[in-house]
Amino acid sequence: MNELAKLRLAVLISGRGSNMMAIARHCADGRIAARIARVIADRPDAAGLAGAAQLHLPTAIVPRAAYPDREHFEAALDAQLDNCGAELVVLAGFMRVLSAAFTARYAGRLINIHPSLLPAYRGLHTHRRVLEAGEPRHGASVHFVTTEVDGGPVILQAQLPVLASDTEETLAARVLEREHVIFAQAIGWYADHRLRQQGAFFVLDGQTRSAPIIAS
Ligand code: GRF
Repeated sequence: MNELAKLRLAVLISGRGSNMMAIARHCADGRIAARIARVIADRPDAAGLAGAAQLHLPTAIVPRAAYPDREHFEAALDAQLDNCGAELVVLAGFMRVLSAAFTARYAGRLINIHPSLLPAYRGLHTHRRVLEAGEPRHGASVHFVTTEVDGGPVILQAQLPVLASDTEETLAARVLEREHVIFAQAIGWYADHRLRQQGAFFVLDGQTRSAPIIAS
């Protein structure tokens, strides 16, 4: 596909950036009909910036600490997103809560990965909390972002059993492996115009859905 015809992604990161790298690989080998127009980090020390640079992806840093409040920070983010012509904004380990105004501006064009079987275990430290609760199952969810934190229609979930031998680290590693697969898959659907948000629901291949697809 002609590079210019491909969907333009902006990928927002705060840390390691392994989901961003997985998406970049899928774009590079044509499994996702999109290209990463910019990787944007909210911290100058985000490790993923080095990985992005190695892949020759355009990067930008919008350091939260440089702005007096969230409104000014988000205005700087807006400027970056406009400037790179982002059509889909991908939150890939972006550890900031975005304002209602920001999420409304990007409604239907804002997608996130969360390491739990949403709506269970919103928020942080999901692996630890799942282990502490003795849950038999855990996983990851890709969802459209709405004003509610870790709310918004869940598109695709990967589920896996919690093993008796699991530690926070082993469980996180198994979940992360699945994150890379389902995030790329959902972004691929979007890039192929198969997926869109419809309020609290999503539409895949013309079918309105209120429950996530479960990845095999
Ligand atoms: C992932 O587990 C993601 O679900 C969560 O933060 C982590 C980011 O990992 N929101 P990485 O930066 O993509 O490696």
